[in-house]
Amino acid sequence: MARIIGCVTTSHVPAIGAAIAKGRQEEPYWKEWFDGFKPVHRWLDRVRPDVAVVVYNDHGLNFFLDKLPTFAIGAAAQYQTADEGWNIPTVLPFTGDPELSWHVINSVVADDFDVTMCQEMVVDHAVCNPMQLLWPGGEPWPVRVVPVEINTVQFPLPSAARCYEFGQAIGRAIASYPSDARVVVIGTGGLSHQLDGERAGFINKDFDRKFMTSLIADPSWATRYTTVELVEQTGSQGIELILWLTARAVLGTGPVHELAATYHVPISNTAAGMMLLEPAA
Ligand code: DHB
Ligand code: FE
Repeated sequence: MARIIGCVTTSHVPAIGAAIAKGRQEEPYWKEWFDGFKPVHRWLDRVRPDVAVVVYNDHGLNFFLDKLPTFAIGAAAQYQTADEGWNIPTVLPFTGDPELSWHVINSVVADDFDVTMCQEMVVDHAVCNPMQLLWPGGEPWPVRVVPVEINTVQFPLPSAARCYEFGQAIGRAIASYPSDARVVVIGTGGLSHQLDGERAGFINKDFDRKFMTSLIADPSWATRYTTVELVEQTGSQGIELILWLTARAVLGTGPVHELAATYHVPISNTAAGMMLLEPAA
C-alpha cells in the first residue's frame, strides 16, 4: 500500500515567490526564513517521495466567489499555474496523479465527504510557493501532485473539527491505495495574518506557538475552536491554519517526530511558519 512518509506545513506568502524570483534568499530579511528549509531539503533528499498531496486554499485563480466548493480535489493529469497579479514568474506545470486522485476521491466520498472533483484545475501561489520552498530550482518537479483545496475565503468555512476529520479520511484513503508510492503531505497557508480591515497586520505569536506545539502530540487541539474564534485568534487569513490542521490529520493519531520547524515574523503581513513532521513508526 502507499505510504505516508511525512508532513510539511508552510506559509505561502506571495512575497516568498518574489524573493525566490529575485534571488534574495541570502539577504538579511530573508536568510533566516530560507535557511529554515535546509533540514527539509536534506530530509526530502533522503526519503524521496513520489507524490505530494498538497492541502491549500485557492485565492480566486481557479474558483471565485460566484462558485466556491468547500472541499475540492484535483483529478487532472497536469496543473498549470497563471499570473495572479503578484508579478511573480510562473513555474512549470505540475504533473498530476489521476489514479491516486480518483482513489482518494472515491474513498473520502464513501466516508461522507462530498468533495468537488476537478478534472481541470489551475493552482495559485498557495501551491507554487511551497513547492518552490521544498524543491528550490526543482523544475521539472520531482513529484506528482494531488491538490486538495479547502475554502478559507468566503464564509461559511468548514470548521476546524470537520477539516481534521477530512484529513483523517484522506489518510485512510492513501493508506488503502494499492501501490508502493511514497507520499508527502503538504499543508500551506497561515499562520496568523489579516490582510485588510481594521485589524490589518494582526499577528498572534502566542496562539501560533501553541498551535504549532499542538500539532506534534495533541493534533486535535485546534478543533475545540469555532471558525469565528479562530479568526479572532489568528486573523481573517490566519484561518488558513485549518489547512495545516488538515495536512497534519492525514498522518493519523500515532506518535510523530518534529524534524524541523521555523517561525518568522513577519513576512509581508504574515507570521510565517514551517514544520516538518514524520510518523514515529
Ligand atoms: C499574504 C499572505 C497570504 O496567505 C496570501 O495568500 C497572500 C498575501 C501576505 O501576507 O502578503
Ligand atoms: Fe493565503
